[in-house]
Amino acid sequence: MSKERGHPGDAARRVQNAVLRKVVETMDPKSKNIVFHQGTVTREDREQRLGQRGCVLWFTGLSGSGKSTIAHAVELRLFQLGHLCQVLDGDNIRHGLCRDLGFGATDRTENIRRIAEVAKLSTEAGLVVSTAFISPFRADRDQARTVIGSERFLEVFLDVPVDECERRDPKGLYAKVRRGEIPEFTGISSPYEAPVSPELTIPTAGMSIDESVDQVVAYLQGRGFLSSPGRESER
Ligand code: ADX
Repeated sequence: MSKERGHPGDAARRVQNAVLRKVVETMDPKSKNIVFHQGTVTREDREQRLGQRGCVLWFTGLSGSGKSTIAHAVELRLFQLGHLCQVLDGDNIRHGLCRDLGFGATDRTENIRRIAEVAKLSTEAGLVVSTAFISPFRADRDQARTVIGSERFLEVFLDVPVDECERRDPKGLYAKVRRGEIPEFTGISSPYEAPVSPELTIPTAGMSIDESVDQVVAYLQGRGFLSSPGRESER
């Protein structure tokens, strides 16, 4: 399937999602009589202590493209370098925070909205967050960028053709899809909208995990997110 090919119901879905996003974006909190409290310890204070700047590596790509694998490998590499990281992983989060959500377009939008808010909180704590969600809709990723702040939102596109993802099939899901057991599966019967100008594109096919991690870490260093002059391991 081409990344951009339409599916039945796409037009209706787009309209429905656009309306939903607009409502959420402009919505006042449901609760009244709430007053935002500004903390005394700032994000900058925490970042200085951690020797890093909070940011989100927003991994996006098809199921089987390597999001979870690379996100965790990046976390391990950075942790070994003395940094504090966190991975928010689609399958894991759907066991808890998003256990009430399915894979219809509206639920996917809500899934990404919640993750963006959680990731934002973590960046305010100074963490380098890796999110590993298919996040198939451009508008949802753009909304996440807005919520988190463009200067801290780093979209990483794992550019792997659906045929290669299906060949890998690490969870046996594509096989199930072909047997008709999973509806609305991204790349097969539900669309994936590839990023237009991601901060990083990694074609993981033909690359080792280490090579992919090298690219991500080099990018973070190049952008000054890992400035930790006090740390032995990076001198
Ligand atoms: S997203 O589209 O809302 O961003 P998310 O990343 O949370 O998806 O979850 C995707 C994971 O759920 C996949 O890696 C796969 O393991 C599993 N999954 C189960 N059903 C589907 C489906 N219909 N489409 C895509 N992924 C699915």
